[in-house]
Amino acid sequence: RTTAPTSIVVFGGTGDLAKRKLFPAFFNLFIDEWMPAHFQILALGRKPYTQEKFRRYVLENLREFSRNNNYTEKQWLNFSEKIIFVNFDITDENSFRNLHDKLTAFDVTCNRRANRLFYLSVAPSFIDKVSANLKKMGLASEIEKDRIIIEKPFGYDKASAVALNKLLNENFKEEQIYRIDHYLGKETVQNILAFRFANTFFEPLWSNRHIESVQITVAEQVGVEDRGGYYDHSGALRDMIQNHLLQILCMVAMDAPVEFESSLIRDKKAEILKAVRRIKPEDINHYTVRAQYTEGVINGKPKKAYKQEPGVDPDSKTETFVAMKFYIDNPRWQGVPFYMRTGKSMVQKKSSVIVNFKEVPNKTFVNSKDKLQPNQLTINIQPEMDIRLAFMAKKPGLDMTLKPAEMVFDYFECAPDSPEAYETLLIDALDGDSTLFMRSDQVEEAWDIIATIQEEWENGTYSPIYTYSAGSWGPQAADDLLSRQGHRWLSTT
Ligand code: BG6
Repeated sequence: RTTAPTSIVVFGGTGDLAKRKLFPAFFNLFIDEWMPAHFQILALGRKPYTQEKFRRYVLENLREFSRNNNYTEKQWLNFSEKIIFVNFDITDENSFRNLHDKLTAFDVTCNRRANRLFYLSVAPSFIDKVSANLKKMGLASEIEKDRIIIEKPFGYDKASAVALNKLLNENFKEEQIYRIDHYLGKETVQNILAFRFANTFFEPLWSNRHIESVQITVAEQVGVEDRGGYYDHSGALRDMIQNHLLQILCMVAMDAPVEFESSLIRDKKAEILKAVRRIKPEDINHYTVRAQYTEGVINGKPKKAYKQEPGVDPDSKTETFVAMKFYIDNPRWQGVPFYMRTGKSMVQKKSSVIVNFKEVPNKTFVNSKDKLQPNQLTINIQPEMDIRLAFMAKKPGLDMTLKPAEMVFDYFECAPDSPEAYETLLIDALDGDSTLFMRSDQVEEAWDIIATIQEEWENGTYSPIYTYSAGSWGPQAADDLLSRQGHRWLSTT
């Protein structure tokens, strides 16, 4: 845990992310005593706030978005003193000079050069200006002490991600750059590594010898809400598959690193991304399904069609759902399909990984009245947070009849109030631990994996966009994608 005095600078301090995630995360870290004794948070924004008004705005948001509303007035007052609103124009060098003065003044109060954490929660088009000015003013010049966190979207395609990496590497050292994928901060996602590598019993089975297929689902019940403008130029492939789902895939499929150390872990993840088979343009329709939601009903309430959402082009061809099949061409995973699906306005919120084991090879119970169900390991990421192992057991009684049974490890039981992903990631960034952040090569490989799909969906001659009713599990075509291989989506109840 870092004790070094730190200036935290949030570009986009009045934005949505700061309001919903960053301030609640810093506050929770503060009340749980994870923050350094000496820190300040400079919230940069263009809205005209007085200090008092801004602090009140932060408090209102904490009440709405913080996981923990159990704090004292004194704790809030102590925290609020650390927040300083700074009226800031990214395009104006004077704003950066002013920032320089504020950072230096804080250093003086600490009697030393404090660490600096710059959080770039701004539109990608501003990253250029911000990083060039940080460099020009020497604000992030101490490699050991100064870190830059970059929010997604990290590029729009492979070429723009490469350009963005180049730009960042011109201004900072790679070890200063923290590319965030908040799924990597989720407890249940991190636990995949603990589960796999801190136990002996699953790793020997973790390969094509024993595993039939793997399914990764990230279903959301929310639609695009007020983000239509952004989302309509992104779509589910860019917004979710390129980052969150491929990162989960890495956690499930990577080999064990020799040590739990940042570069070793990231090397293993990068190896998986390199080994993911690239889909040829002519095979796109065989491996992928895209769809958009039409009107429907969610939780008994009518939901309008995607095309009618604010900020969305009424003729939009943007996908709000993707289902696809990947193969990983390495000795461990050769031939095992990895199915992925994600979508908005679906019937329920559910993120999970399901590992389907092969059928038992021997025929001992072939005449059993009950059909043998292959073993299945389910890792529920959210909203349920548990690990479930399905197996066959004998039904109590005089004859040898079998029935499916389950062993469950429930996260809520042992940690009902576990930290939010952003808390974990922010404390890691304050500590200078980049394990859970993405390295430039990982980001570029992930874009490379989806490159032909992007190209074909945008410019190809025949790649249908299916529809699904809001409040459903997606289009029939997504089911067909699996049934062709004798599989079906699980966790659909
Ligand atoms: C974001 C996407 O990265 O992740 C959103 O841009 C999506 O579209 C969100 O809703 C999902 O995150 P979570 O933590 O709510 O599953």
